[in-house]
Amino acid sequence: MSDDIRILAVDDSKSTLEVLKRNLLPEGYEVYTCERVDEALPLLEELDIDLVITDYRMPQATGLDLIKHVRGNHPDMEIMMITGYPSIPGAVEAIKDGAGEYLAKPFTTEELLSAVERIVSRLQQRRVFSTPDTPPDNFGIIGNSPEMARVFRRIGKAAASDANVLISGQSGTGKELVARAVHYNSDRRSASFVPVNCTAIPDSLVESELFGHVKGAFTGAKEARAGFFEIAHGGSIFLDEIGDASPNMQAKLLRVIQAKEFTKVGSSRVHRVDTRILAATHKDLKQMVAEGTFREDLFYRINVVDITVPALCERGDDILLLINYFLTKFSKGMHRTPPGLSDEVLHALQRHPWPGNVRELENLIQKLVVIVDHDPIEITDLPDAMRFSLPREGNVSRTLAEVEYEHIRNVLSMTRDNKTRAAEVLGINRKTLREKLKRMEEFGGGEE
Ligand SMILES: Nc1ncnc2c1ncn2[C@@H]1O[C@H](COP(=O)(O)OP(=O)(O)O)[C@@H](O)[C@H]1O
Ligand SMILES: [Mg+2]
Repeated sequence: MSDDIRILAVDDSKSTLEVLKRNLLPEGYEVYTCERVDEALPLLEELDIDLVITDYRMPQATGLDLIKHVRGNHPDMEIMMITGYPSIPGAVEAIKDGAGEYLAKPFTTEELLSAVERIVSRLQQRRVFSTPDTPPDNFGIIGNSPEMARVFRRIGKAAASDANVLISGQSGTGKELVARAVHYNSDRRSASFVPVNCTAIPDSLVESELFGHVKGAFTGAKEARAGFFEIAHGGSIFLDEIGDASPNMQAKLLRVIQAKEFTKVGSSRVHRVDTRILAATHKDLKQMVAEGTFREDLFYRINVVDITVPALCERGDDILLLINYFLTKFSKGMHRTPPGLSDEVLHALQRHPWPGNVRELENLIQKLVVIVDHDPIEITDLPDAMRFSLPREGNVSRTLAEVEYEHIRNVLSMTRDNKTRAAEVLGINRKTLREKLKRMEEFGGGEE
């Protein structure tokens, strides 16, 4: 993750520089520091820096001066601004001038690390995308199956247009990766990609989070604050889990999408905004529209291009590519050679239904790489639940009904009990599936 990332931190406060070092070094980043902008400039040239973290206020040249220099001379460098004063307007200015992220002092370790991680993932995506001549290899997304080829074609089309995009798929299938790929391959790539988790915003804060507020707009609004749409101006806003947006939030989103303008809480000034909407959900929005829980007008606004990301178990041998990719990635992070997998382990992984999709696979491989210290990884290293659900190898005494029952159960777990999808996967109609399930229950097979 933090492979080969070089960070230069510029701040006139020694203690902030120490905090940055103390938190970033253990994550594997290379960190250089200096206390003045004029000292920073030659280091940018010499050290091949990837990310500049800069204070806003400094005695001589300020953070904004540094940003302007970096933007003009090192367009590929990422910038993060730290603001010490109640200087949110400064932060907004910084973002407009090209800082990718900003952090207000004092910040927690988590806030720092997650801001840096966001930037690093952008850097890595950009590296993949900008490999000269060769077209971006599937946008840095792993997969060779026809199902994923369809997704990559869609990403290409979406990136070339400026239309809003709805990305559907179970959780952990890579929807956010898809959204980033669209943004970083579009004409908006040099402006911000702003992720917004619709489930995380309490209803009472929707307006101020989306559109910002002015100083004194409400009790507790001690300072002015920029909203997500303002930060996404010129770029893309990623509305994650849009199926969970409250009716109030849906109404606010519809308005800003239609009118392309908004007002901040506590102000009547109208701000124009130009941003592309990328939305994602694991829910069936069409069905929600039919049930009246999702606004139809909003659905049509966001569902101009739709991209459906398939579940992991629909991608055939892609799972092998992903296993290799994660083994290599996590081993590299620990400076180890990737371990092998025994045949039994490989079979178990291929048979597992992966309800958590790629995220579940990624977490498992990471755990195995960290915990297991022998090579190859053996079946006994897998979590119990995965080992014990294995069909007994070479057991040929099971009846056809037993095998059928087990397969149906696996498919249902993969489709999260969606019977229509399960019937599709099984190649039978819903009625047949219903009858089989009923029979299974009658014969006592329905219990775990
Ligand atoms: N095809 C893929 N290739 C590489 N990594 C993937 C792929 N799909 C998902 N991932 C990884 O799996 C995790 C979950 O992906 P994410 O985009 O957050 O899923 P979602 O938004 O659908 O829940 C992330 O760490 C992501 O990098
Ligand atoms: Mg997600």
